Amino acid sequence: MFIVFLFVDTYTMKNKVAEGLTLFLMVIVCPVIIIFTMTYSDMSFAPNKMEYHQIQFHSNHLRRFEQTPQPSSCHQNTSVYNLTDFGTLPAHVKNFLLYRHCRTFPLLLDAPDKCGGPRHSADVFLLLVIKSSPQNYERREVLRKTWAEEKLHNGVLIRRIFITGTTGSGFEKRRLNRLLKDENDHNEDILQWDFDDSFYNLTLKQVLFLEWMERKCPHVRFLLNGDDDIFANTFNMIEYLQGLEENDGSKHLFTGFLFVNTGPSRDSSNKYYVPVQVQQSDIYPPYCGGGGFLLSGFTARTIYKMSHSIELHPIDDAYMGMCLEKAGLMPTSHFGVRTIGLDVPGNDLDIFDPCYYREIILVHRFLPHMIYVMWGEIQDPYLRCGNTNSSVQESQ
Ligand SMILES: *[C@@H]1O[C@H](CO)[C@@H](O)[C@H](O)[C@H]1NC(C)=O
Ligand SMILES: *[C@@H]1O[C@H](CO)[C@@H](O)[C@H](O)[C@H]1NC(C)=O
Ligand SMILES: *[C@@H]1O[C@H](CO)[C@@H](O)[C@H](O)[C@H]1NC(C)=O
Ligand SMILES: *[C@@H]1O[C@H](CO)[C@@H](O)[C@H](O)[C@H]1NC(C)=O
Repeated sequence: MFIVFLFVDTYTMKNKVAEGLTLFLMVIVCPVIIIFTMTYSDMSFAPNKMEYHQIQFHSNHLRRFEQTPQPSSCHQNTSVYNLTDFGTLPAHVKNFLLYRHCRTFPLLLDAPDKCGGPRHSADVFLLLVIKSSPQNYERREVLRKTWAEEKLHNGVLIRRIFITGTTGSGFEKRRLNRLLKDENDHNEDILQWDFDDSFYNLTLKQVLFLEWMERKCPHVRFLLNGDDDIFANTFNMIEYLQGLEENDGSKHLFTGFLFVNTGPSRDSSNKYYVPVQVQQSDIYPPYCGGGGFLLSGFTARTIYKMSHSIELHPIDDAYMGMCLEKAGLMPTSHFGVRTIGLDVPGNDLDIFDPCYYREIILVHRFLPHMIYVMWGEIQDPYLRCGNTNSSVQESQ
């Protein structure tokens, strides 16, 4: 186009015919050139033949995936339509009630040798059981490199497993399943079942894990059960567990951030909303916040046994409390577990000062990059903390 203008300028500006020609060029030819250029550059983004082959290959690959186990045919419990005001409940609550009784789902991804087989599972001192959703790839990657790294520490073995369901449908679901499969091929640390990975399905996830543990890791000593957005100080956990009087996991232990005298939220806009159609009673037994708690192998197996006769409840940590209550066991409070966050005195203090995190066991709500930074910082041998203990005041 530039060339056309130059040409017009130097050669024909002097006569009227040329003016007409210039006008013609500007009004008709230029738009044509522009449109052509745009179309052409659009085309350059289209895949070439080679790329088409790759896409084809991938979709064939994905199609093979689809043939992995079909969702089990667990039918709706249609009696729930008769519950008072069922029609007015939010969709996720309706879904919960319709499928509350379903407890068997195909295992899509397994890590069968996680504990070296059932007989060797007593060699695992601490199994980190981390609730994750398929799309949380960055969180899993950071945890693998930081506090959830599998290793031998202070003479004991630490192992890690992520527990997850499926997200989305169609292409999206297949893509995320592929992501998880690739991750598991590399890391052997994912259990995935074919159920919808929603907040209200967390209890289902926990119960499915306990069922898996019973078969694959029955003698593991201790477990940390928590979310994938916590910062945990694994070394402190080990130190605490090794310091217990009974440190072989054969006695009751269930400790974390303790809730007592609480009950279901009846506010439908609350994340933890549980209407009377799901639970009539206004009270929850004592339980530890689900962001993260520590328990012994003994207690995990006991909870699993109790779960057979307690119908699922959407709030997974409250459900753990129900199972403990039925077994006549009490959860306890641990000073170092801050699932509702740290209480840093004063606004001008840095909430991410590593000194606050050296003495805790775990803290909720960390972004992946902050987990990475903090993990390095708390291990810094030159870290100077002064009066660090002021940090660890009781929250609330
Ligand atoms: C629901 O209620 C209707 C009317 O009371 C009754 O006929 C039906 O059998 C009930 N359905 C179930 C599945 O309980
Ligand atoms: C179906 O739902 C009704 C009403 O909530 C409940 O009483 C019944 O136990 C449920 N059935 C099963 C198989 O869970
Ligand atoms: C739980 O997962 C099952 C299986 O995917 C699904 O049918 C159900 O709707 C889910 N429940 C909730 C409350 O999301
Ligand atoms: C830190 O504070 C806690 C609680 O106030 C106390 O039990 C502990 O001994 C203190 N630790 C140190 C090293 O001062």
